Amino acid sequence: MLISKELASAINDEIGRELFASHQYISIACYLDDHALKIVAKLFLKQAEEERAHAMKFVDYLTDVDAKVLIPAIDAPRAEFNSVEEAFQLALDWELKVTGYINDLMRLAIDMNDYMAQDFLRWFVTEQREEVHTMDNLLKVCQQAGERNIIMVEAYLAHQ
Ligand code: FEO
Repeated sequence: MLISKELASAINDEIGRELFASHQYISIACYLDDHALKIVAKLFLKQAEEERAHAMKFVDYLTDVDAKVLIPAIDAPRAEFNSVEEAFQLALDWELKVTGYINDLMRLAIDMNDYMAQDFLRWFVTEQREEVHTMDNLLKVCQQAGERNIIMVEAYLAHQ
């Protein structure tokens, strides 16, 4: 096995979080679709696919280094929100949290002198910069438009 038990276990936990994120973004997409915000709903469905792809990257890595894949229990995502802004805020808070978890994985890989894992994890470090930026941007546009003019977020995204 080309990985420590501790790091393999931490990566298994991250697989659970990536799959949870995928479910949460599907749930947010459904909430947005309910509010006739089709373009932004589609964006969240795309994000949900990306989260699943992130989980699969970790699965592939554990398989490659001959570690056991143990997917943890995954909590139900939140389905109800008081506003679109609240849904976007939840997504941004989640991405900031995941950034911390990715940093923790990198720290562990450094502590273990696991250069292979550091090389693998670097992709996620860069990816989190993009993920946080996307959600932060969405929240800012939403706050500037205001809940009553939320349809403007659709117009904004249509011109991206
Ligand atoms: Fe897999 Fe949105 O981080």
